[in-house]
Amino acid sequence: MNEQTINPHFEDFLFDWKQKTYFLVGGYGSSKSYHALLKVVLKLLEEKRTCLVVRQVYETIRESCFSLIKEIVTGLGLYSKFKFTKSPMEVQFPNGSKIIFKGGDDSEKLKSIHNVSIVFIEECSEVNEEVFKELLGRLRHPVLSLHIILSTNPVSKDNWSYRFFFKDDLTGHFRLDDEELYEKRVVIKHNTYYHHSVADDNKFLPASYIEQLEEMKSFDPDMYRIAREGKFGISGMRVFPQFETMKANKMHESIQKITNPTRKCGMDFGFADSYNALYRMVIDNDKNILYVHWEYYTRGLTDPEIAEDIKEFAFSKELVEADSAEPKTIAYFRQNGFNMRSARKYKGSRLQYTKKVKRFKKIIVSDACPNAIRELQYLTFKKDKQGKIREDEFSIDPHSLSAIWYGLSTYNHIDLKGDKMELTKESLGIW
Ligand SMILES: Nc1ncnc2c1ncn2[C@@H]1O[C@H](COP(=O)(O)OP(=O)(O)OP(=O)(O)O)[C@@H](O)[C@H]1O
Ligand SMILES: [Mg+2]
Repeated sequence: MNEQTINPHFEDFLFDWKQKTYFLVGGYGSSKSYHALLKVVLKLLEEKRTCLVVRQVYETIRESCFSLIKEIVTGLGLYSKFKFTKSPMEVQFPNGSKIIFKGGDDSEKLKSIHNVSIVFIEECSEVNEEVFKELLGRLRHPVLSLHIILSTNPVSKDNWSYRFFFKDDLTGHFRLDDEELYEKRVVIKHNTYYHHSVADDNKFLPASYIEQLEEMKSFDPDMYRIAREGKFGISGMRVFPQFETMKANKMHESIQKITNPTRKCGMDFGFADSYNALYRMVIDNDKNILYVHWEYYTRGLTDPEIAEDIKEFAFSKELVEADSAEPKTIAYFRQNGFNMRSARKYKGSRLQYTKKVKRFKKIIVSDACPNAIRELQYLTFKKDKQGKIREDEFSIDPHSLSAIWYGLSTYNHIDLKGDKMELTKESLGIW
């Protein structure tokens, strides 16, 4: 190996085998895949080992990793000493080492990985988290050190690769601040070697490639952030940029301190495909904050079963405003002592209700409401075929939001006078 054949930013990564996990993240064309595979090839030339390369779709390996290994071996002047089998794909080294390939979509095949001591997961954000965990659990060898290498372009912060290697607000899990990685570029923490790279780190790219990436800045900022800057983010326009989470006990204290509270409960019904979602909310009218502090979220239950689950509402007589598409269900709950009422739904109500929720300065959801956090924290608007944002459609079907809409259907925001509320376009639901 000499200076000519490797990118300097990858040199330390290439020869470091002290860590169990190597996580490469970066923009397009930064040479992550090349150096991950070069690392594997060099190690396997040195020691007799088997490496498993995984990508979500088996066939995509042929044109990516498999051909890249050929390129690398050719570059090393060793092509004639290797054997490349096409079906199933396999690379045999002169010393008996080999590289095998499997698709993340074939979980059965992934279970039989005997003798493997290195796993490389290419484009790991496309692979399911279960596959990663399964591989982590199965990677065993009586004598050899074990390593798992992952490479990916950054994706949305709700992808498992971000939640696992950086932070997960839902569970409170924290490993590393991604901003720290962008700044330091290499961070070793928790037995993991983190590496960040961008196209400028790859001296084998033509200048025109970087120019093309640069052009994205003006027409697709999400893509620019991912491809050019190699940073995680949220793809698309967030519905609730003012979303925050809070520990349940802290929220309890905050709610106690509200001088002018309004309490609301909203419910959406579901059976087979969708969910029953019931939320308790408190509004701080002075500060214009919505607190979501209690949730009930189930599926596949009959009305009597739901009534049993939420019987505390029958005792408390709290007003529950619910989906008007289910008058029979509402009648059933009323007969059983619930103070339930149908929330008004009309043409365009989805949009109006969403705007109403957006007008809160803060939407704070307790960690006692994991489904609301999962659905709403990074919720984005759907785009139509022309790429224009639809203001009443979302990337997923958030049942928690429907329940919140109904719960707030009779709530009116206080006048926008004074300095209690920032008059931003976003807070007014205008964009
Ligand atoms: N050390 C090297 N020697 C020769 N060519 C290289 C080297 N490193 C990278 N390249 C070339 O640069 C190109 C981009 O590298 P690579 O595919 O590894 O980038 P990447 O970071 O995985 O990109 P993507 O994010 O698109 O997956 C490849 O075509 C590869 O052949
Ligand atoms: Mg790649």
